[in-house]
Order: sequence, then structure tokens, then C-alpha cells
Amino acid sequence: MFIDLLRMRRSIRQFQDKAVEQEKIDILVEAALRAPSSRSLNSWEFIIVTDSDKLVDLAKAKPHGGSFIQNAPLAIVVCADPSQCDVWIEDCSIASFILHLTATDLGLGSCWVQIRKREHNLEMSAEEYIRKSLNLPDNMVVEAIIAIGYGKEEKSGHPASFLLYRKVHKEKFG
Ligand SMILES: Cc1cc2nc3c(=O)[nH]c(=O)nc-3n(C[C@H](O)[C@H](O)[C@H](O)COP(=O)(O)O)c2cc1C
Repeated sequence: MFIDLLRMRRSIRQFQDKAVEQEKIDILVEAALRAPSSRSLNSWEFIIVTDSDKLVDLAKAKPHGGSFIQNAPLAIVVCADPSQCDVWIEDCSIASFILHLTATDLGLGSCWVQIRKREHNLEMSAEEYIRKSLNLPDNMVVEAIIAIGYGKEEKSGHPASFLLYRKVHKEKFG
């Protein structure tokens, strides 16, 4: 059942030194392209990165929360052209999460690395840094990077006691 996948899903930030097979990359790409999008405008674009130098570059996009990309064998950069759709953030977020869940289903670990609204340093945004690293055209904006690989850390799914049922309301708030 799909809920079983959700019950075991965790963010994985430590990866084995082992490539992700092309068949699994193909499935990840298919999954991303099957993401629903507002008005079917498919505003996203995906950049598949396996080159180790580029992964090291991406790991430096922001000072915190992304350095583990350098140890991942695969990163998928999720970006969009905002002129194509006013709700590109939603489109990209759905695709990013589908990548995260598909990776889990394939026995891979993965973690979302937030890029939108994050800084590289005082002078440059993380997005601008990635634009330069990956040769993105000026009209592209970056939502996130999904770092993917065979996990080197074991994490249990969150127990039911972790769930914030108090945030669920019946009929009206409160
Ligand atoms: C929108 C979003 C942005 C995130 N950004 C980062 C990030 O930049 N770096 C990181 O290490 N984890 C990031 N995460 C992963 C969260 O830290 C993680 O989902 C949360 O701590 C819960 O842990 P779990 O996924 O193992 O349940 C992000 C998750 C989401 C949904």
C-alpha cells in the first residue's frame, strides 16, 4: 500500500560510493515527468547531474544544508520558467516530492535541498550560483535539488506518536 511507502520515507543525507543504475535514473525521470502540473503547463525542467565535479559544485550552492550533495552519485535540479505558469512553485514542489518518494520506492535514499530563497553568500543567491554552474538561461529559476543515492545511514520511519494530529481539524478550525 502507498501508505507503507510514506511510513518508511525519511530524508537521507549520507550515501554509499555507488552509482545509481541508469534504469533507476530512467524511472526517476519518468516519475518526474508524470507529476501533475497546473493547467498541464509542465512549467518545470529537470537537470540530471552525475558528474562528480558538478556535484561538488552544487554542494557549495549554499553554506548550510546542501554539502552532502558532494557525496551523492546523483542530483536532480528542479527548475522552471516562471513566465510559463504563475504557480510554478507548486508544480516544482510536487515534482520534487515525487522524485523523493520514487527514490524511496527504488531503494534509494534522497533529500530535498532548498534553493529558492536561499543565499550562496552576501553577494549571490544560491540560484544565481547554480545558474552559473549549470549554464541555466536567465529565464530559469531554481526550486530545489534532490540529492539521491544508495543510503549509508539507516533511519526508521517516524512512529505514529510523532504525527501532529492536533493540526487536523474537524468541520471548523479549533
Ligand atoms: C521544502 C523543503 C525544504 C528542505 N530543505 C532542506 C535542505 O535545504 N537541506 C536539508 O538537509 N534538508 C532539507 N529538507 C528536508 C527536511 O529537513 C526533512 O524533510 C525534515 O527534517 C523531516 O525529516 P524526514 O524527511 O526524515 O522525515 C527540506 C524539506 C522540505 C520539504
